[in-house]
Amino acid sequence: MGLVTRTPDVLKMLKDDHDKVKTIFEDFEQADDRMKAFLVSQGIRELEVHAAIEEELVYPVLRSDLEEKHILDEALEEHHVAHLLIEELRAMSPADERYFAKFKVLAESIRHHIKEEEGTMFPEVEEKELNWEELLVAVERRKNELLEGAKPELQPGVSTITKGKHAKAEVDISSQTIHV
Ligand SMILES: [Fe+2]
Repeated sequence: MGLVTRTPDVLKMLKDDHDKVKTIFEDFEQADDRMKAFLVSQGIRELEVHAAIEEELVYPVLRSDLEEKHILDEALEEHHVAHLLIEELRAMSPADERYFAKFKVLAESIRHHIKEEEGTMFPEVEEKELNWEELLVAVERRKNELLEGAKPELQPGVSTITKGKHAKAEVDISSQTIHV
């Protein structure tokens, strides 16, 4: 009350990720089939990295401070449904009749999920005295790992362009290890 609250950086980062996938979903609506196929693969990649970060690092930390634990359980169920749809998309080809329809349903369910997180979950935890700094460091580290694959030889300072190139090829490998 009367206090100026500052949104923790880790929550800002998750919201930025949300904005990124929402843009992909909007672009998908306008795209031709070739572009749609590209956006599906891009969307899947973003969602898998984001979901892994939330499941492995963010949700476990929030659980201890969230009064309404069912919010987290529902979020995990929504992730579960998203993983199933992603798995089905991976087994299909863009030429399959229901490929784009499936991605559209995935997009709708993710939009709902984002609304819940930003509207209910994040506001409830953002004023809590969590170790937000520590969580941010862990999230950033894990995100880089997922985008890069295990690359111990990479030094901080390596060009982001190189990072980007590796990201595409290696996210599949990491995602298998983390079951997303
Ligand atoms: Fe999220």
